[in-house]
Amino acid sequence: MIPFSYRSPKTEVRESKIHGRGLFATADIAKDEVVAVKGGHIISREQLREKITPRFGPVEIQIDDNLFIAPVTEEEREGSMLYSNHSCDANIGMRGEITFVAMRDVRAGEELTHDWVTTDDDDYSVECNCGAPNCRKILTGRDWQRPELQKRYAGYFSAYLADKIARQAMLDR
Ligand SMILES: C[S@@+](CC[C@H](N)C(=O)[O-])C[C@H]1O[C@@H](n2cnc3c(N)ncnc32)[C@H](O)[C@@H]1O
Ligand SMILES: [Zn+2]
Repeated sequence: MIPFSYRSPKTEVRESKIHGRGLFATADIAKDEVVAVKGGHIISREQLREKITPRFGPVEIQIDDNLFIAPVTEEEREGSMLYSNHSCDANIGMRGEITFVAMRDVRAGEELTHDWVTTDDDDYSVECNCGAPNCRKILTGRDWQRPELQKRYAGYFSAYLADKIARQAMLDR
């Protein structure tokens, strides 16, 4: 079966210190190079909460206020997972809503992590285990509203969040 998602041939999935398995670079990756593209079915928040998360755990990516992409069957799960863990010092970010690109040059062997702030608008609050010196310790689904994070990840927010941030900035003027 052709997998739903794309992972660059310069990546591999293996055990991570952050959590479970993670995505790692097997060769140097240049800034703005495509690392992975998320594929799956487009589902609502309700479908995610009621049908997907209870069966498969965290397998989705948020692409708009109430829209997510996820596998919906066990056979699709592995081919849809990207295995990118969260880090508060992330090295990959979003181009559009499903494409992950390197935010800086990445060396072979580094774990490829994205910051959930670049993809999520939700009401969760969870403890972070990323271990980065600048770890926020508690991550929330509203972190995208924090000005210092908007600045840090400018150009690498999911398109729907970049749009929200731009509209908020216009209202604040
Ligand atoms: C899509 S999975 C990433 C792959 C996962 N490590 C695995 O082996 O399936 C996302 C889940 O990984 C865990 N995770 C990833 N980054 C984390 C972090 N920085 N702190 C705590 N948990 C994290 C959380 O349980 C989260 O729901
Ligand atoms: Zn952290």
